[in-house]
Amino acid sequence: MTNSDGRTLRSRAWFDNLDDPEMTALYLERYLNYGLTIEELRSGKPIIGIAQTGSDLSPCNRHHVELAKRSRDAIRDAGGIALEFPVHPIQETGKRPTAMLDRNLAYLGLVEALYGYPIDGVLLTIGCDKTTPALLMAAATVNIPALAFSVGPMLNGWHRGERAGSGSVIWKARQQLAAGEIDAQGFLDIAASSAPSVGYCNTMGTATTMNSLAETLGMQLPGSATIPAPYRERGQMAYYSGQRIVEMVHEDLRPDQLMTRQAFENAIVVNSALGGSTNAPIHLNAIARHVGVELSNDDWERVGFAVPLLVNMQPVGKYLGEDFHHAGGLPAVIGELLRAGVLPHPDALTATGRTVADTYGKIQASDPDVIRPFESPMARYAGFLNLSGNLFDSAIMKTSALNEEFRGRYLSDPDDPDAFEGSAVVFDGPEDFHHRIDDPALDIVPHSILVMRGAGPKGYPGGAEVVNMRPPSYLIKQGVHAMPCIGDGRQSGTSGSASILNASPEAADGGGLALLETGDRVRVDLKTRRVEMLVPQEELQRRREALDAAGGFPAPASQTPWQALFREKVQQFNTGMVLKDATDYQDIARK
Ligand code: FES
Ligand code: MG
Repeated sequence: MTNSDGRTLRSRAWFDNLDDPEMTALYLERYLNYGLTIEELRSGKPIIGIAQTGSDLSPCNRHHVELAKRSRDAIRDAGGIALEFPVHPIQETGKRPTAMLDRNLAYLGLVEALYGYPIDGVLLTIGCDKTTPALLMAAATVNIPALAFSVGPMLNGWHRGERAGSGSVIWKARQQLAAGEIDAQGFLDIAASSAPSVGYCNTMGTATTMNSLAETLGMQLPGSATIPAPYRERGQMAYYSGQRIVEMVHEDLRPDQLMTRQAFENAIVVNSALGGSTNAPIHLNAIARHVGVELSNDDWERVGFAVPLLVNMQPVGKYLGEDFHHAGGLPAVIGELLRAGVLPHPDALTATGRTVADTYGKIQASDPDVIRPFESPMARYAGFLNLSGNLFDSAIMKTSALNEEFRGRYLSDPDDPDAFEGSAVVFDGPEDFHHRIDDPALDIVPHSILVMRGAGPKGYPGGAEVVNMRPPSYLIKQGVHAMPCIGDGRQSGTSGSASILNASPEAADGGGLALLETGDRVRVDLKTRRVEMLVPQEELQRRREALDAAGGFPAPASQTPWQALFREKVQQFNTGMVLKDATDYQDIARK
């Protein structure tokens, strides 16, 4: 059986290899033992893998276990055979020390499964934060026809008559707990209210961001990204996705034809309009590298910074996933960007094989308060700045998250409205922060700059989401809710903080942050994109020598074999946190 360009389906090499009848028999026999027949497996029908990320360990994606039944029906109806298999579980809120550590592990596992088994095309069940990039990275490496299918966001959460966004209410509740306004039970009640149904985080966190960008990249059916998990349309989209992946195998439509440089530039623009997560550059830079596209944090600033924020969703706005979907969802955002002429590549392809312009050109938002018209956005510049200086080579900042309070306090100098300066208060990892943040001896004032280090890919394997640090309780009580934060870790996409984060190289990889001391002055200039510690060069040299003599920046011991392997091989956030050498392997199913 061949597909439309005359290539033999790769599953034939297992199940129908006339040159090697013995191996064929061996490959076939075990797949018969639960009822598949020889006739089916030798019929030439495409074998479609369903890469299953849902399980009891992964509640955000658990609903995929149900939805996959509809996809299997569709694959069968469209003339394919479905083989469902598990992906290494990744639950953002459940994995210690961090789910990010397992993105590359799930990637490696899925590459092996897709490469080593008789799979002609794959349905990627995406949802919770790291599941989406892990699966897209693997599809990029193997480069067999692949279609992502989102589990969808949870329903809106409510607490005392107000929308309670997953993740975002937790950040708020932490401040209330620190200020003594609620107790531990109150904290639990708020947390539970923000998880009202199956599905992933209903805020514009990393999950909504990455599911939307998977569609923008052409890897998910148009309209699929934002349907809430429990809605009937979600089950129907499971069916359409199953149908489509069978067609994609016949068309031999592969990830490298969809995830082009153009598609990534579109995704950067869409990310700004969404107010997408600061994790997106790490993940998209990683997917791009695996598919052979150069993409850097400079591209994020150049292509994405001057794009306005259109979507009014928590953490920076008001609404949640159901509202977004009812207002038109991602298709309406792309439609608005097309109409304004700011989507750079309207001719890029979607998963249907049609162009972006064709697919989304006529779609309009139905609620202009949820999805703003281009002319009256939520914020004028919604993209990321790419900052550098003597503390790091690259770190990003989401300036649209700078709220009035922050702007008024830190950026109000009429002579230099884009710069601020303060004394650094340095924390070595999240545990150090939690122990000391409320210690009056630190003498933190509103114009201090909180610094988190030892929280990058190597320092805290996978990188901790901890750079958005809360002010000490005594300052919160005085009304200071956000302070300038800098760090080599990440920050949750559900946090509205305007930190300078993902600093690369990290302290544990020779970065300048390792040389900073509490009390040093740090200057941030958003206009020149510079962040500098104002410490003389000779003094920095002296500190560097002392650090080297002490054996480098201290990092805690690895607790598992994977942590140790990961630290040996991992690269920095600005280049996607991918494993060294892994990007040498591309398009491997066709070689
Ligand atoms: Fe899974 Fe947010 S924790 S999507
Ligand atoms: Mg997260």
